[in-house]
Amino acid sequence: MKCTAAMVTGLSTSSEFHLAPMQCYTNQPLRKLYSFLSPTSIKWTEMEKVDDLLPNIDQALRKRLDGEEHEHNLILQLGSNDEIKLGDCVRIASCLYPNLKEINLNCGCPAIDTGGAPSYGASLMKDASLTAKLVESMVSASDIDISVKCRIGVFDTAEDVVAMNSKQYEYLHNYISSIQHSGAKHVILHARSAILSLSPVKNRIVPQLDYEIVQQIAKDFDGKVKITLNGGINSLDELKAIQTNDNSNISSYMSGRWCLRRPLDLAGIERTLSYNGIVPDVKSAIEKYIDYALANQNRFTMSELCLPLYLVVSQLQQDYENGVDDSLLSWRDIETLYDTIEDGLVMHLSTGKVKKSSSINFKKLANSFGPLCGKKVVSKWKRNRSEL
Ligand SMILES: Cc1cc2nc3c(=O)[nH]c(=O)nc-3n(C[C@H](O)[C@H](O)[C@H](O)COP(=O)(O)O)c2cc1C
Repeated sequence: MKCTAAMVTGLSTSSEFHLAPMQCYTNQPLRKLYSFLSPTSIKWTEMEKVDDLLPNIDQALRKRLDGEEHEHNLILQLGSNDEIKLGDCVRIASCLYPNLKEINLNCGCPAIDTGGAPSYGASLMKDASLTAKLVESMVSASDIDISVKCRIGVFDTAEDVVAMNSKQYEYLHNYISSIQHSGAKHVILHARSAILSLSPVKNRIVPQLDYEIVQQIAKDFDGKVKITLNGGINSLDELKAIQTNDNSNISSYMSGRWCLRRPLDLAGIERTLSYNGIVPDVKSAIEKYIDYALANQNRFTMSELCLPLYLVVSQLQQDYENGVDDSLLSWRDIETLYDTIEDGLVMHLSTGKVKKSSSINFKKLANSFGPLCGKKVVSKWKRNRSEL
């Protein structure tokens, strides 16, 4: 395996790396692939709406998290505006999964259901006292650390948006103070405001990124609450540049779409963050994932099990066809991975639906994921891939 310059220089090992919660993606199969590639990075669940977990919460949680009881690098994200239900949910989750690293409250998703933003997610940023009550209820229900993921501001419409000024900053500062006083240990800041009337996709594109605000908050809350920076990080070099230019004690960094687009870059992240210097071999990580998929065919759909492999194939195809020469992988590595994935699909997962090629043909291999993942999943992935 080759090293890029960024890998050699490395990131500060005092930082954690978080793999952002993403609905329709960060279910257990993708978390498993991420874990095999980077055991050190922190994995997040998708946002689980408390109303979806109740009333049969034990069963609902086991369906999502079974097999991850001993995972210390996992954060469960919840969405709710009901302090009683949220507290109950946190209590039961803590009993079933006491090793969770944190339980998180989503205060950053602009529109959780279609038809406008309901009164949770990013809407909670408009109600600091309700947010505080929710956090208090979570904290009193569990010994596990409670965290909040939010934006740097919130507006009703695009016309209401104003550049960050002292009034806006004071609002954000007070919001985080009240979260801290309610007992949360960690705040993850997506470095964009939320615009409640816009779709989730537009909310990841239209509001401007502002890392300086996150850095200022990290300075103001140094020693009081951990601050993680999220939003727009798109490569190992970018991550390293943000970290190098930062003197604000940001405790960690989070990325979502970069690692969907280039999951194998996690091996590079692992190389820089791993404390014991053991770096997983990419080929054996993929083999472990295929074994996991085969063992869990009764538990997850074919689409859920194949999507992580499709993400890997999309990255390999892009690098192979574009002749990327600073990739983490040599051409030989890429060809070996092609065989591993094709064999895993041909011989096992697809039970004969996918035919083996006589030569390397990434386009054909990528296309064979269409029927396995389903058209809707593939086109959603293509839309999300082009966002960043
Ligand atoms: C498809 C998709 C689903 C998402 N679902 C969630 C979610 O369930 N909870 C959440 O807090 N954020 C969610 N987000 C936002 C991400 O966690 C992250 O904050 C955002 O993508 C910005 O980070 P990035 O630029 O590194 O992707 C989602 C983002 C995407 C692209």
